[in-house]
Amino acid sequence: MIYRQATTFDLEALDKIHKEIFNEDNQRWFLLQINDSLYRIYLVKNKENDEVMGYISYQVVETTADMLYFAVKKSCQGQYAGSNLLGFSMEELKKDGVKKIALEVRQTNLKARNIYKKYGFVEMWVIKNYYPEFKEDGILYVWEDQAK
Ligand SMILES: CC(C)(COP(=O)(O)OP(=O)(O)OC[C@H]1O[C@@H](n2cnc3c(N)ncnc32)[C@H](O)[C@@H]1OP(=O)(O)O)[C@@H](O)C(=O)NCCC(=O)NCCS
Repeated sequence: MIYRQATTFDLEALDKIHKEIFNEDNQRWFLLQINDSLYRIYLVKNKENDEVMGYISYQVVETTADMLYFAVKKSCQGQYAGSNLLGFSMEELKKDGVKKIALEVRQTNLKARNIYKKYGFVEMWVIKNYYPEFKEDGILYVWEDQAK
């Protein structure tokens, strides 16, 4: 698998994955974010067939990054593309001076929560009714660079 920062050439592939996983159109935002140094979008590609398998995006303000989206297309899930992409993105953010990463996730999303825990994220607190459309609480996770 290949891991790298996304470029404008990846817009269509990113939007396709976003639509499949989150059921919404995000192309305009991807375009703005790819060209804005406040944002980072990283992707994972299959080396054999060049298929974009998933992406992860962040907003970075000084030394803190907020994860915006993390998605792997359904047909590519369960092959560690997501876990490895998270690890890759954390290393890249560290190189950029990021010391802290925060994210919110649905309480019932045990798969994502397990991955975050494996990569050193700590559960901070429950945000009541964070996802009103699903009538669900959110969990705030934070990773902090221990080397700081
Ligand atoms: C979350 C997501 C990005 C993960 O991508 P992925 O490539 O499928 O994930 P991986 O193959 O790397 O996951 C493997 C790890 O997931 C965890 N996992 C897998 N299936 C699980 C399950 N049914 N229950 C709990 N944990 C599970 C395990 O920790 C596993 O690692 P291990 O076998 O070493 O213990 C992907 O599933 C996805 O797009 N989900 C929908 C969108 C989403 O939930 N995004 C995150 C919140 S915004």
